[in-house]
Amino acid sequence: MHDFQYKNGELYCEGVPVKTVAQRIGTPFYLYSSNTLSMHFRAFDTAFSGVPRVICYALKSNSNSAILRLLGREGAGADIVSGGELFRALRAGIDPKKIVYAGVGKRRDEIEYALKIGILMFNVESGDELRALDDAAGEMRATARIALRVNPNIDPKTHAYISTGLKENKFGIPIEQALEYYQMARSLSHVEIVGVHHHIGSQITEVQPFVDALEKVVAFIKELKSAGMNIKYIDIGGGLGITYKDETPPLPRELATAIQPLLKDCGCTLVLEPGRAIVGNAGILVTSVLYHKETGEKKFLIVDAGMNDLIRPSLYDAYHEIKPIVEPAAQDPHDVVDVVGPICESGDFLAKERDMPAVKRGDLLAVMSGGAYGFSMSSNYNSRPRVAEVMVRGNEYFVIRERETYNDLIKGEKIPRWLAG
Ligand code: LLP
Repeated sequence: MHDFQYKNGELYCEGVPVKTVAQRIGTPFYLYSSNTLSMHFRAFDTAFSGVPRVICYALKSNSNSAILRLLGREGAGADIVSGGELFRALRAGIDPKKIVYAGVGKRRDEIEYALKIGILMFNVESGDELRALDDAAGEMRATARIALRVNPNIDPKTHAYISTGLKENKFGIPIEQALEYYQMARSLSHVEIVGVHHHIGSQITEVQPFVDALEKVVAFIKELKSAGMNIKYIDIGGGLGITYKDETPPLPRELATAIQPLLKDCGCTLVLEPGRAIVGNAGILVTSVLYHKETGEKKFLIVDAGMNDLIRPSLYDAYHEIKPIVEPAAQDPHDVVDVVGPICESGDFLAKERDMPAVKRGDLLAVMSGGAYGFSMSSNYNSRPRVAEVMVRGNEYFVIRERETYNDLIKGEKIPRWLAG
């Protein structure tokens, strides 16, 4: 469900015509619906209301400060993977006691920052990291609350690049060896074991992989408890998929129905780390048609957004629906086109061989489902300023990130003395 709908023949975000924003700030830009964001967060919160829970929104999916503030006000915590994400979460007013920190490569300065703040827990991914945490906490006279990220070796049946819970992935500790690591953690003086974490992948469209992983982890928690360890949190990560095209992923409610019974005897607070399911369909990328081009082989629609603005099609062959802002009529002519951007790479495309309504130069297009891993993965490649981000609430809209300028492109760059003048 989302709030991007045609009304009176044109696309609206809630009560705001997309065209109005485009006329005001130019294209390309990301446009987000506050109502959709709140609705998606609440869907998780209500679905899991039967168990004690902390819903830690995965910042990596979209870390804009206004989005964080909105979700923080709804009661969200944060799943972070860097010092930068910790900074953003804190700036947005997210309660440190609702922040979990994952990632295989936490640096010492990042560890110290999180220890100083006193986050809920570090989701630890290796023995070396455990020792590094113990060292840092010891020097700071602090205690590092930790969960170990266990790898349950479950196939999430998603794109290989976004599977994380398989044996061959770099993430977590194989569940068969995890007991040893917990014992090691228990022997460290500045580490307190508080939980168990797992995350098996992203854009998962079935309930079963979540259930399979959880069954393994719940059994493991029993083992830990009988070894005398006080496990208070079970963090099941994120990964719930969304509809990009014709997928029918489970709703949070369906996920909850499937997994809540498994948690009954575990006596733990549930931690969830959804990203995409909250923000993915709450955002679109708006772009303008620049040119048509026909070679013997193909028809290209050249638009003003490229792979630097939305890399998912290039990187994962991901499908994003592309809709004209003016609602097409059923009898309108169609074309089969590659929708491509201005970047100097053949891999710069938003869609390939796409059958879509014929559009003219200057027409506006909405690249749907762009809220997650859109702006957050964007770059300045080809020295393209990153695009603006806009949030709608009802009939009003607000620019929540200005379009970058050419001066922003060279921010921090310096000419050495010997080249000056
Ligand atoms: N927790 C952990 C530990 C994660 O690694 C991730 C995502 C999440 C939570 C959030 O997962 P979500 O609910 O958003 O599926 N760039 C890729 C997705 C990479 C996901 C990485 N980890 C894409 O555009 O599809």
